[in-house]
Amino acid sequence: MIIVGNSMTKLIVANWKMNGSISKVQHDINTYLTSKVTNQSNVIIALPNVFLAEAAKIITDSNASMSLSSQDVSQFDGFGAYTGEISATMLKDLNVQYTIIGHSERRLHLGEETITLAKKITHAINNQIKPIFCIGEPINLRENGVYNEFLLDQLECLKLVSCEIKDIIIAYEPIWSIGSGLVPSVKEVESAMLLVHKFMQNNFPHVKIATLYGGSVSSKNATEILNIPSVGGVLVGGASLKVDEFTIICGSC
Ligand code: PGA
Repeated sequence: MIIVGNSMTKLIVANWKMNGSISKVQHDINTYLTSKVTNQSNVIIALPNVFLAEAAKIITDSNASMSLSSQDVSQFDGFGAYTGEISATMLKDLNVQYTIIGHSERRLHLGEETITLAKKITHAINNQIKPIFCIGEPINLRENGVYNEFLLDQLECLKLVSCEIKDIIIAYEPIWSIGSGLVPSVKEVESAMLLVHKFMQNNFPHVKIATLYGGSVSSKNATEILNIPSVGGVLVGGASLKVDEFTIICGSC
C-alpha cells in the first residue's frame, strides 16, 4: 500500500529536463494555478534550477498549493568553493520541497555513481527536501531477463546514505521507455513496484515510501498506470511540457 502523507494521493511529477524559458514558466505555472486539477500539492514541477526562483515567487505570491522540485542537487552541502554547484541548503532557501536524484540521463551523461547519489540523498534529507530517487534498467538487461538484479543493485545506494531515511520517493523508470513511446505492461510495472517494496521492507521497514512509474507517460496511458494500486504516482518528461497534456495526466487519478 502506498501512503503519501496521510492520504492515498498519487504524485504527479513534471520533469521539464533542460527545457523551458522564463516566459514559459510564467505562462505554464499561472495556467496551472487556475485549475483545481493542477493546483494541488501532489502536483510537483521539476524545473531547471535557473527557473526555480521565478516559479517559487509565483507560487508563494498566489498562495498556491503546487510543489516545486529541482532535477538534481549537489553532492556538497551548505556553501563553499564548488563552482557551478547548487546545494540542498540553497534549494531549501527557495522552498523547493523535492529533488530528483539519480535520473538515468545524469547517470549516463554525467557519470553519476552510487556514492555520489548517496551523498545527494543525504543532503536533501538533511535539508528537509524529499528525494525522488530514480532507478531503471537498460534495454539489454531487460531483454536478457536479468534486470531485477540491476535494480536491486541500484537500490543498494540507499544503504550508503549517512542519515536516517524517514520518507523517500523511488521512481522506476526503465531507460528503454524514456522518451521512446514504449511502456511496460501493467504486470511488468507491478513487478518492479513489488521488487522496490520488498527491498524497502527488508532493509528499511520503517521508511515511508511512494513508488512512481516514469517513462513515456502520456494523457493516453496515465489512467491505466495510475490505476495500478502499487503505483504511487508518475514522473512525466516530454508530456509535461504541454500544458493541456499535463493537465489531463493530473486529472487521471
Ligand atoms: P518521458 O521522460 O516521459 O519523456 O519518457 C520521463 C523521464 O525521463 O523522467
